[in-house]
Amino acid sequence: MAARDADGEGMGPLGPPEPAAAPDGSSLAWSSLRREVETCTRCPLHRSRTHAVFYRGGARPRLVVVGEAPGAEEDRRGLPFVGRAGRRLDTALAALGLSEEEVGILNVLKCRPPGNRFVPAAARSCRPYLDRQLAILDPPRLVSLGARALAALDPGAPPILRCAGQPRRALGRPLFPLVHPAAIRSRALARRWQDDLAALGSWLDGPSDGTAREPL
Ligand code: URA
Repeated sequence: MAARDADGEGMGPLGPPEPAAAPDGSSLAWSSLRREVETCTRCPLHRSRTHAVFYRGGARPRLVVVGEAPGAEEDRRGLPFVGRAGRRLDTALAALGLSEEEVGILNVLKCRPPGNRFVPAAARSCRPYLDRQLAILDPPRLVSLGARALAALDPGAPPILRCAGQPRRALGRPLFPLVHPAAIRSRALARRWQDDLAALGSWLDGPSDGTAREPL
């Protein structure tokens, strides 16, 4: 899932979802939400950003992956998970047989926090954006990456290392928590990542409401 340019123009599946044929106005809602995020000044993070980071993926994903916050490369390009962690994520998703259009990728924070330190207050300001993105995309399944994303989706969840790799439910949807790909700095965690991905593959293949979606 190699990302291409910063604003997604003319990029097909990696650009903004373009549910142009959607009869319900979701295309308009999505593009106006995107504009809101890109011009957001709700919290101090806007002062240090190069780009707000909105989304990459398909218009009707069967899986939405929720990360924590953009890093330096994401801030530079305006796309989520396009740095080293993103390459690890894309490799994993491709190995599971997921196409670019089947997946959506976004973050809890839309702007890079200085020093890559997650800012809970900014997450509260950003929260309506996350909720609106999920409402419009309406994905059958969610994957969270790391403790912050898990806490945003499921505040009552056990610690990430206890529940990564085990399906749960959050926000009325099936949720599969994973450790954050940027946190894999030991052989043990690399093994854990691979094991959890295998479990994710079985979960995706299993019976649930996460079935393939009709293309628009
Ligand atoms: N880590 C995240 O959580 N999100 C990104 O977009 C990049 C790195």
